[in-house]
Amino acid sequence: MTEGRKVLLTIDGKEPVEFPIMSPVHGNDCVDVRSLTAKTGLFTYDAGFLSTASCKSKITFIDGDKGELLYRGYPIEELAEHCNFLDVAYLLKHGDLPTSEQKIDFVKIIKRHTMIHEQMAKFYQGFRRDAHPMAVMVGVVGALSAFYHEAEEGFLDPKARNVNFNRIVAKMPTIVALAYRYSRGKPFMYPRNDLGYTANFMHMMFGTPCEEYVPNPVIVHALDTIFTLHADHEQNASTSTVRLAGSSGANPYACISAGIGCLWGPAHGGANEACLKMLAEIGDVSRVPEYIKRAKDKNDSFKLMGFGHRVYKNFDPRAKIMRKICDDVLRELGLENDPLFKLAKELERIALEDDYFVEKKLYPNVDFYSGIVQKAIGIPTEMFTCIFALARTVGWMVQWEEMVMDPEYKIGRPRQVYVGEPRRGVPPTRRPEAD
Ligand code: CMC
Repeated sequence: MTEGRKVLLTIDGKEPVEFPIMSPVHGNDCVDVRSLTAKTGLFTYDAGFLSTASCKSKITFIDGDKGELLYRGYPIEELAEHCNFLDVAYLLKHGDLPTSEQKIDFVKIIKRHTMIHEQMAKFYQGFRRDAHPMAVMVGVVGALSAFYHEAEEGFLDPKARNVNFNRIVAKMPTIVALAYRYSRGKPFMYPRNDLGYTANFMHMMFGTPCEEYVPNPVIVHALDTIFTLHADHEQNASTSTVRLAGSSGANPYACISAGIGCLWGPAHGGANEACLKMLAEIGDVSRVPEYIKRAKDKNDSFKLMGFGHRVYKNFDPRAKIMRKICDDVLRELGLENDPLFKLAKELERIALEDDYFVEKKLYPNVDFYSGIVQKAIGIPTEMFTCIFALARTVGWMVQWEEMVMDPEYKIGRPRQVYVGEPRRGVPPTRRPEAD
């Protein structure tokens, strides 16, 4: 990978110090600064990781300028067209798409793991009914570590890693659906093995014990595509959180719980929920210009939720796919003229033409459309980020595994630029007092 090119760093006119340049398969070359401190005593400062690669990875590649996303080398557009979510989960985990036999085995094994421990189902009753489902997810997924505490000891064994992966990928739809059912006081639905992964999730969300639930194939396809598009996205905030938590050797389920906590924020996975709340606040097409004006005002903290991305400076390829799915779902459900969805379309139209958004390359991101689709399907707004977490669990587990198996793996430990008080003494007159 390294091609002999070097960077020379001259400090205070002294003899230059050399650093190798790494050339990846795709993407920007990187200066390998690992020896910087040993050679010079300097640290690098890069708050927000604007210029820093934190690991080597073979899983996902994004070219933000081109608007390209590859999972294990395959373009997301082709995967969304030709594969379903479990194909993509297998691909991300095992490095290539499954053969027919591998797929049959994988589906069988996932179906065997869908139920959760009955004791775990009781956990939900400890939460208030009005708890945010992401808070419930953080707790319940973290609690998997109490049920499977062998997981962190077994991470050097590939079989144990496979079991951990299959187990959590299988259980996430059940855990998410239970969070929803509990919040509404509806009876918990056991998984159904005659249904596919996504159809079964819909059954657990929307079915009742009184009659058989028949999922709509257009909706199942839309939701399955949402899962595929959210399965991984290289070193984003929540994935980096999972890697950092896992770098201490912590239980993988506890690390996924940390990732869920990070995903929750409105600048990350919480954007789809925030976007729908924003649409509700705007309320009417006539008020779109007012909100566009606010989004452009430097003195106003308001941002257009569902617009912009740290990496994509072009249309997010996932958003292009989701935009079409969004149209299909609205048509299928006869919602094209629903005021909320008309408002979303108008906002998209104006922002795509507006100079501010065009110049700053702020395009609608995947969460803009996925929020609209989920709302149309009938998924409550506060559940949107849970759906994102369900799908991203695949990426988190695969990234966690890649990290713990990396021969260069070390506990993550950033440095800091200390800007607090310089060293000082406690006044000698000060005496400890009883509290
Ligand atoms: N509305 C209005 N202005 C914006 C927006 C927006 N949504 N996003 C960025 N800008 C402006 C920003 O104020 C800045 O202006 P200036 O150059 O004058 O300082 C400029 O565009 C560059 O943006 P940035 O904040 O430096 O970009 P970032 O990489 O730090 O932030 C982001 C990326 C996604 C956090 C941000 O665009 C944002 O907050 N968007 C809204 C929330 C959202 O939709 N998040 C979901 C991201 S996609 C799902 C995921 O991967 O989690």
